[in-house]
Amino acid sequence: MNRKACLAQSDLIHVMPELLSQWNSSVPRYTSYPTAPQFHEISTSLYQEKLRAFDQSEKPLSLYVHIPFCRSMCLFCGCSVVLNRRADRAQQYLDHLLKEVELVASNFCKKRKVAQLHLGGGTPTTLSEKQFEILFATIQEHFTMLPEAEISIEIDPRTVLTDDGKKLLSLKRLGFNRVSFGVQDLDPQVQEAVRRRQSEEMTVSTFLKARDLGFHSINIDLIYGLPFQTVDRFSKTVEKILELKPDRIALFSYAKIPWLKKHQMAIPDKTLPSTEEKFRIYVDARARFMTGGYTAIGMDHFCLASDPLSTAYFQKKLTRNFQGYTVELAEDMIGFGLTSIGFIENAYFQNRKDLESYQKAVAKGDVSAAKGYVLTEEDIRRRKIILSLMCHFEVEKRGLPEVDLTQLKEEGLLFETQEALIATPLGRLFIRRIAAKFDAYTAQGNFSRVV
Ligand SMILES: C[S@@+](CC[C@H](N)C(=O)[O-])C[C@H]1O[C@@H](n2cnc3c(N)ncnc32)[C@H](O)[C@@H]1O
Ligand code: SF4
Repeated sequence: MNRKACLAQSDLIHVMPELLSQWNSSVPRYTSYPTAPQFHEISTSLYQEKLRAFDQSEKPLSLYVHIPFCRSMCLFCGCSVVLNRRADRAQQYLDHLLKEVELVASNFCKKRKVAQLHLGGGTPTTLSEKQFEILFATIQEHFTMLPEAEISIEIDPRTVLTDDGKKLLSLKRLGFNRVSFGVQDLDPQVQEAVRRRQSEEMTVSTFLKARDLGFHSINIDLIYGLPFQTVDRFSKTVEKILELKPDRIALFSYAKIPWLKKHQMAIPDKTLPSTEEKFRIYVDARARFMTGGYTAIGMDHFCLASDPLSTAYFQKKLTRNFQGYTVELAEDMIGFGLTSIGFIENAYFQNRKDLESYQKAVAKGDVSAAKGYVLTEEDIRRRKIILSLMCHFEVEKRGLPEVDLTQLKEEGLLFETQEALIATPLGRLFIRRIAAKFDAYTAQGNFSRVV
């Protein structure tokens, strides 16, 4: 099928404006279940107890390390960020992070195996090469990286270009095998409006450099719904990204959460695309990626057939966590650093959100989580259902709780077979709404909108 034909097909995904505004409700993105508003204060010993219980098993782990620093703030940003340009502050944070790794690992009798390590932020690449080496050496001192481990990092191209690729090379040498570049939109007017100036040339040359260095798995992050975006303008970004042929593309919906991220208020509402235009931008980009050879994964990821995410999708081994869609190599995760969230033995644990109190606690040897949530049997059951819907667009009917799905079926978002509930092609685009039906807590919390 040529691209034009596919675009004509995408035109068929047309939702009446009234229906769209009705469906555009505030619903979780289900990076966890239950979602973060359910997390609460927990006893200081609970984290240690769960880590020790985990130590009785032979299961591998996934590690997440949060580096919160950014040199400037993008106005759309919804991440957990600390603005910083001071090297001493970053070093001080790293010192505490290393201590946290050591303290947490001291709960284990043996070095635990790690199947997945992810460095996220903020911007991890604000660390220097030397700091990466020290971080890596400390992790390896306390954990055993499996030979096939996925080791990934989020990279702001603006932080790795001035040194002719030296930092990228050192990441490759340390063993990183998956890199993710933040691009968002190549259009200079959009970039200007969100204060993220990153020329197309900069994006392209960083990408090519990473390929040259032998990174086989490269992801590019894009956002739709940003100021001044239209279907036409964003399609130019999409076409240029297709030329680069990244292994994965994350096409995020702009999550507007100004009650949590005050800097988003600096984006005037009148510059944002309307809900209908935002939806059309998504539908058009999705069609272009699919015609360009990508498999649509979950609600916002696209990947080439050669990418492990694609295999995981077809083998039903895809999962979703705070970093988005991922291949499930380990169910349990330890989160290190400010605001990090881990999942151990069916309980979520979140670190402190304030830099000073995080560092003070670690300095005292206290790595207890600030908040957490222990899942009940009922939560575990619903978590499985929600994950199955979010990752695979279907769920087995056996054992499902009683839920009224009449409206979703009438709206054409869902259908039933004897064994399963399955989202229709349209329902896939609104999978958060379908998943929310199985959430026992949706009424509590203020979330970004579906579109
Ligand atoms: C931690 S950043 C990636 C690394 C680096 N800081 C950068 O921006 O290049 C993670 C990604 O989250 C996405 N993101 C940030 N804020 C968002 C928002 N409000 N809505 C949707 N996606 C967002 C962006 O696509 C961004 O690349
Ligand atoms: S999008 Fe990335 S670079 Fe921009 S403020 Fe957020 S974390 Fe920092």
